[in-house]
Amino acid sequence: MARIVWLDGRFINYEDAKVPILNHSLQYGSGIFEGIRSYRGDKTYIFRLDEHIDRFFNSMKIYNMPVKHSKEEIKEAIKELIRRNNLGDSYIRPFAFYNDDRIGLSVVGKSLSIYIAAVEFGKYLGEKESISVKTSSWRRINSTILPVKAKASGNYINSILANMEAKLSGFDEAIMLDQNGNVSEGSAENVFLVKKGVIHTPSISDSILEGITRDSVIKISKFLGYEVIETEIPREDIYISDEVFFTGTAAEITPVTNVDGIVIGDGKIGKITRELINFYSKVVRGHSEHFQSWLTEV
Ligand SMILES: Cc1ncc(COP(=O)(O)O)c(C=O)c1O
Repeated sequence: MARIVWLDGRFINYEDAKVPILNHSLQYGSGIFEGIRSYRGDKTYIFRLDEHIDRFFNSMKIYNMPVKHSKEEIKEAIKELIRRNNLGDSYIRPFAFYNDDRIGLSVVGKSLSIYIAAVEFGKYLGEKESISVKTSSWRRINSTILPVKAKASGNYINSILANMEAKLSGFDEAIMLDQNGNVSEGSAENVFLVKKGVIHTPSISDSILEGITRDSVIKISKFLGYEVIETEIPREDIYISDEVFFTGTAAEITPVTNVDGIVIGDGKIGKITRELINFYSKVVRGHSEHFQSWLTEV
């Protein structure tokens, strides 16, 4: 549970951070958010803070939101929030919303608030070593309908349907296809496959959120000498892959060993997936000499 949160420039107790139930963003899904992690190594580090804040501001820009704070202010607030709550491994949630409780969806002339909360956080997809996923009957939204590059609350109604369908069918998570039937992403994760030692992931034209973990994994994979191909992936390619894994700030790198009941590879966590998990977990805690520029000391 968050103890101290940041709201519009002030640090206050979680219990005191209240919005009226008629809040615009609660009614219409007009919030914008980020999900960021901090990790405790020898010190506490925030992972890829600059990239998350750039995406946060880009999301708000796409929706033409009247932001009153600078990127630097938000970054400083996040660091101070981690310190004040004495957090190590945490999930940080900046959230921009219209602080308006009139009925009516127009946002023109309405003002924006930002809160930042941070909570202790462990594994997102449970304690299992690997997960099973179901191809959703819901298609991933695309940019003819909603801007997929923006991390807007409303987008997640699509993810919630896919995740719910998968869970109610006995799977751990969903994979969504894009409008053309190609693989897009999980409900809150990007997807990777390994075939004959080559790493593949859907390209940004496949209606994905451009994940920051996805970018980290692409860079780490190339650094480790692997070829990475960003391309259209037909659904059936997943079934005949040697390895499949998800990436995301919350999910980190999560092995997927069963898709739609079909066992992936030999059903065990793949060699390349394991290598990437080991490397990534060192990088995020500052235990690697590589990619240190991705870490912001708290
Ligand atoms: C829809 C969606 N796709 C992918 C991701 C992974 O993105 P990132 O690695 O930046 O957390 C997320 C999580 O933020 C997400 O919500």
